[in-house]
Amino acid sequence: RTVAVVLAGGIGVRVGLGIPKQLLKIAGKAIVEHTLEALEASEDIDEIIVMMNAESISELDHLIESGRFGKLSRILPGGATRNDTTKLAISVLDGDDTKILFHDAVRPFIDARIIRDCVQALDTYDAVDTAIPSADTIIEVDEASLITGIPDRSRLRRGQTPQAFRLATIRRAYELAEGDPAFRATDDCGVVFTYLPEVPIFVVEGTPENMKVTEPIDVHIADKLFQLQSASLSMERLVRELPDLSGAGIVVFGGS
Ligand code: CTP
Repeated sequence: RTVAVVLAGGIGVRVGLGIPKQLLKIAGKAIVEHTLEALEASEDIDEIIVMMNAESISELDHLIESGRFGKLSRILPGGATRNDTTKLAISVLDGDDTKILFHDAVRPFIDARIIRDCVQALDTYDAVDTAIPSADTIIEVDEASLITGIPDRSRLRRGQTPQAFRLATIRRAYELAEGDPAFRATDDCGVVFTYLPEVPIFVVEGTPENMKVTEPIDVHIADKLFQLQSASLSMERLVRELPDLSGAGIVVFGGS
């Protein structure tokens, strides 16, 4: 069984629009709704749980009522930090072998291929990350803004989500983290990497489109991407539905 957990517990301070950014409307729908549509459409996902910012949880009631998301079983309150939100999700899940995909609500361009690669990788690995190469050189600096290192770019990746795990593995990692007063992490693979160093974490190739809406400019970029996506979808549909004109002596460009 595969469960997708949508992490929507944040408030989006950096976007700074006074409502949690996952509720911002892009192309007529809340960002989290686009994310849910992608997960719902995937044949590889059996169940979806949303962990929502507690103060805004009622804003999502209509999603369950709409009946559009048959896989969406629960919308539960998130925690104070992203890791707290993950922990809360783990506490309501069962089955050691259950495959869990944690996905940021604010990455609405997740596609079926990424989901499938993550789910399939869990047949071989207990922990899976999604990442893309870095176009920029990444430098390491100290408190005085002086460069302390320039790691080889060919080995660097930019982490995205989903991050996927067998439930027993991610649960164990968080149990170990709980006992560590110095615990600090921003993502879930980081918790496995630190507390279960013997567990290999396989990396699935993400896409540049699978961006995280983080800064104000990302809202505009996401909006544009949706426009482009729906334009290319209508173009595909147009070509598919084009009547067969071969008998009429009309040459359809691109046809054989
Ligand atoms: N998230 C969560 N629970 C939290 C904090 C974040 O589930 N307590 C989720 C966010 O809703 C988002 C994802 O984790 O979908 C990625 O986090 P981020 O981009 O940092 O979101 P915010 O915390 O909302 O943004 P900011 O840091 O600007 O406030």
